[in-house]
Amino acid sequence: MANRQKTVYCCSECGAETANWAGKCPSCGAWNTLAELRLDAGSRRRGSSSGAAPRYGQKPKRLADLDTTAEIRFSTGISELDRVLGGGAVVGSLVLVGGAPGIGKSTLLLQMCGLAEQGKKILYVTGEESERQLKLRALRLAVDNPALYVLAETDIGSILSCVEELQPEIVIVDSVQTVSDPEISSAPGSISQVRECTMRIMRATKEQGLTVFVVGHITKEGSIAGPKILEHMVDCVLYFEGENSTSFRILRAAKNRFGSTNEIGVFEMADKGLRCVENPSELLLSGRPENSPGTCVSCVMEGTRPILAEVQALVTPSGYNAARRCNGIDYNRAAMLLAVLEKRGGMPVGGCDSYINVIGGLFLDEPAADLATILAVASSFLDRPLGADLAAIGEVGLSGEIRSVSVLNQRLSETARLGFKRCVIPARARDDLRSFEQLKLIPVKNVGEAIAAVLGKGR
Ligand code: TYD
Ligand code: MG
Repeated sequence: MANRQKTVYCCSECGAETANWAGKCPSCGAWNTLAELRLDAGSRRRGSSSGAAPRYGQKPKRLADLDTTAEIRFSTGISELDRVLGGGAVVGSLVLVGGAPGIGKSTLLLQMCGLAEQGKKILYVTGEESERQLKLRALRLAVDNPALYVLAETDIGSILSCVEELQPEIVIVDSVQTVSDPEISSAPGSISQVRECTMRIMRATKEQGLTVFVVGHITKEGSIAGPKILEHMVDCVLYFEGENSTSFRILRAAKNRFGSTNEIGVFEMADKGLRCVENPSELLLSGRPENSPGTCVSCVMEGTRPILAEVQALVTPSGYNAARRCNGIDYNRAAMLLAVLEKRGGMPVGGCDSYINVIGGLFLDEPAADLATILAVASSFLDRPLGADLAAIGEVGLSGEIRSVSVLNQRLSETARLGFKRCVIPARARDDLRSFEQLKLIPVKNVGEAIAAVLGKGR
């Protein structure tokens, strides 16, 4: 019995396992996501799915006696990557870097190889490109690190024995979908392969104290093959986002065992690779239309960093069916704000087509952007510009009241720094406001007051 091969079916959306195949996942209800996963007796014996299973025979230790020097951080040389990792990479951690093909994952990691602390031995395992292609890319990115080794290999066994022999401190596996274990019959990139290979990489990471970055391509449905399976195994999951048509890229942490997940890293893809954007607000606001109706700037917090984002709205008379389309803001939130504007702001936008868009591929999930959204819609509806020097910060409630938001001072400093002259804020601010020389504050209690203050009365 012990040696019998066991087959289970694993959902690529939620990671649930079932004994029998079905068209619909019994756990999450997704269709056609169950894939065969062979668990041979060997892989089961070698460890649990976390890859770092505690060995039997260990005794509980007092928390106070545990050694914390084990968590050693080092800088990757890329400030925005350090920020997302929670202040640098951790020795003995496995980081998954996910993203759509062509977004810049290989570029980012290769650049890291060039910028990481000198003398750290790095092994770049590539299963996608040849050594020559990698060299050409390195030349283009001006990566010139004598301690960088390259290995074009896809067999997980050979990769791990190379790692053991070379004893690098940093390993990059590009990509997890190309590595495979010949003992497993399924094709590279399948759930069984990805899971088993990641598990073996995880074990090597913990045993040898490596820092490993694994690249994972996102499939068409927007998930890495077997996303949940990988996510719960690794220490840190970073997603690289952005549209191929723009040069703006955002690195976001979806999971981080060693830091917070609200920080984002902002990059710009240039001809010599990725460039860190220390002041994203400046980039996001460049090219703003002057004196045009339907645009308003707000300040949202991305982790500890305030970012100015431009919300645009276009309200047009409806043909036959009122449509609302949003990009960069939650659909339900937008519908709520339109309803508040209609009922409390006295503007009949319900019968119009409303389009709301946030510039730069940013997604605003913070209520602090509510007021700017409402003002942008009102400005488009009235066809009156708000002025390029105006920003608005505040949450809007269902009674049309403008509510306070957190860390208003920090947001206002950033707004003032970027040269804005006027800012609409909640009348009852939570904290004591500093005074800003160049920035005139316009405190408002409700939506009606806000519209009257910046767009004037009447239609
Ligand atoms: P790449 O890192 O190969 O993407 P991934 O590994 O995520 O699939 O990035 C490829 C894209 O980046 C490609 O479309 C070209 C662009 N790029 C630049 O614009 N400048 C550069 O210096 C490099 C190396 C790539
Ligand atoms: Mg690549």
